[in-house]
Amino acid sequence: MKEPIIIGNWKMNMIIPDALKLITGIKNKLSGKHDAEVVISPSFTVLNSAHIALADSNIKLAAQNVSFADKGAYTGEVSAKMLVDVGCEYVIIGHSERRQYFHESNKDCNKKIAVCLEEGLTPIYCVGETLAERDAHKTLDVMELQLREGLTGFKVHDIENLVIAYEPVWAIGTGRSAESKDAESVHGFIREICASMFGGVVADKLRIIYGGSVTDENIQSIMKEKNINGVLVGGASLVLEKFTKIVKYNEE
Ligand code: PGA
Repeated sequence: MKEPIIIGNWKMNMIIPDALKLITGIKNKLSGKHDAEVVISPSFTVLNSAHIALADSNIKLAAQNVSFADKGAYTGEVSAKMLVDVGCEYVIIGHSERRQYFHESNKDCNKKIAVCLEEGLTPIYCVGETLAERDAHKTLDVMELQLREGLTGFKVHDIENLVIAYEPVWAIGTGRSAESKDAESVHGFIREICASMFGGVVADKLRIIYGGSVTDENIQSIMKEKNINGVLVGGASLVLEKFTKIVKYNEE
């Protein structure tokens, strides 16, 4: 298993000056040793400036979305090659906000994962059930469908570096994080499905991370679980003290 990965999803926040201020703060506070790989995910408009600002650090960049197409007449879209060009190493795919507001399906996610792999970008594939699905005890069915459709057609070597983010929709931005034990059991199930699709060897090494109201207060209990290999942080990643405390979760 690689080191845990902690990703700050800035969503549609921060213009360049604010972003550079936050990045400077993060770099200063995280200049010492810490165990996790750190990734931030600003908006497209900030990526180039962020890349330059991060050049002397080991903090990596993720985009929040990518086009399914590789180039051409797709007004308003951004290709995987363009993301590589501005220094991205990761791309968040299938975030529940994109599924909800932009009607992205598992099949769309599958195409986006494919273009990322083609360009050497690592996808962070988001899955998660809505509250209604949870209440109807459909969480595991939804996970299985999102994984089987989203990851269909890939070979073992394609998904070796993939990151899967389990983000229960009802926990995102609500201040109501999943109980660590409940998240752990869904993570275990996700690993089982991946094992059935790609074999146990690669599934055991996949980083499956949790997202949904992660804070500097609940991070320690989340990271204690064996199948939770990092976190995707929204709101708290915009606050310097909180984000850097989350990264240093095992230092206190
Ligand atoms: P949140 O968002 O931490 O604000 O709940 C998480 C996410 O949407 O990735």
